[in-house]
Amino acid sequence: MQRTQVAIIGAGPAGLLLGQLLHKAGIDNIILEARDRAYVEARIRAGVLEQGTVDILRDLGVSERLDREGLVHPGVFVALNGRRRHIDMQRMTGKSVTVYGQTEVTKDLIEARLKTGRPLIFEAHHVSIRDIDGKTPRVRYDVDGGTSQEIVCDVVAGCDGFHGISRPTFPEDSLTVYERVYPFAWLGILSESPPAADELIYARHRRGFALFSMRSPTVTRNYLQCRPDEDLDDWPDDRIWEELRTRLVDPKGESIKEGRIFDKSVLPMRSFVLEPMRHGRLFLAGDAAHIVPPTGAKGLNLAASDVYYLAEAITGYYSSGGESALDAYSDRALSRVWKAQRFSWWMTSMLHPAPDGDPFDNRVRSAELDYVMSSEAAIHSLAENYVGLPF
Ligand code: APR
Ligand code: PHB
Repeated sequence: MQRTQVAIIGAGPAGLLLGQLLHKAGIDNIILEARDRAYVEARIRAGVLEQGTVDILRDLGVSERLDREGLVHPGVFVALNGRRRHIDMQRMTGKSVTVYGQTEVTKDLIEARLKTGRPLIFEAHHVSIRDIDGKTPRVRYDVDGGTSQEIVCDVVAGCDGFHGISRPTFPEDSLTVYERVYPFAWLGILSESPPAADELIYARHRRGFALFSMRSPTVTRNYLQCRPDEDLDDWPDDRIWEELRTRLVDPKGESIKEGRIFDKSVLPMRSFVLEPMRHGRLFLAGDAAHIVPPTGAKGLNLAASDVYYLAEAITGYYSSGGESALDAYSDRALSRVWKAQRFSWWMTSMLHPAPDGDPFDNRVRSAELDYVMSSEAAIHSLAENYVGLPF
């Protein structure tokens, strides 16, 4: 039997960040991860960090490579049927965003974790959580070879993503789920080509949404709206480039530089929130508790704000000995989660023509983008949310 203060399930950004925040506060913790290290480090996800997320990584001393390789973007573009508008976020809000792949954040956090010497257990199988209604919950898992281990702790942090076991551990009658599944998806590609614009371009086009993004001076990340059941075989490289050129049309023809495509995948889009984010001594953070559609680039940033609040709650609990800090966690986290949900849903609705959608809705959404592109007040609001609301 192992004893620790906090058992963290999942070594995605949420679990790893929480581990570092607790370590900094001198709180003992164990991280359990179902997959192996190579798998976790290779998982491709989004790549836009809010200033607040960068600040957390800096405070933790995990930003050396981020400060060197991260691409600071003071602005972003939105486009409607080929017409483009630049949003100078830096001028409007005093903040910028940093483009740095979540994959890289994960690698940096794993390296930092290993340096602390605190346990990070990969390939922990059949993880289960018990006794969350009492003050000493337990976490059981199997290691390779089949030996069972048990951790006794004060708090369990469920950071195991959308498909983890933490959320299903909540008694069903204790929670409310809010959900929306969208009738479209994104086809994401990575290519060996230099970014052809300095900043991201979010484009609504008659043929569907497209997003131009990047990972580094030599790697471009692009997305195209597609069907949720899209067959990748229907998307040979030529078709992808043609469609990107059409939807991201640029009068100077500069937004697209072709290159070898080395990854293609289809990303489903959903909005999902579970309330409350805590039952007894089990606290959820990140994708375990909520999913946003990727249009606002909020997924990783919400995981960061959740664990920031959760670390404060746990630190407060140990310093005061009372439950009030723990009791405040769910409401505090959800207040920010819902604002990011609203923004992600709004960006998604405004930027995607819904196939077979209500024609009136589609016109109104197109008009909404047209309005945003012509109104300082509206574009200011977009900028304020995009760079991230304060913690
Ligand atoms: N036991 C242990 N670990 C588990 C289990 C389990 N039963 N189930 C899942 N995991 C691990 C996954 O392998 C993964 O490494 O939990 C981790 C969860 O990580 P993420 O899915 O990355 O979720 P989170 O850390 O909340 O990060 C949110 O990731 O999904 C993106 O878009 C999302 O950017 C956002 C960010
Ligand atoms: C990405 O670069 O992967 C990316 C950027 C912006 C988004 C989503 C994904 O909104």
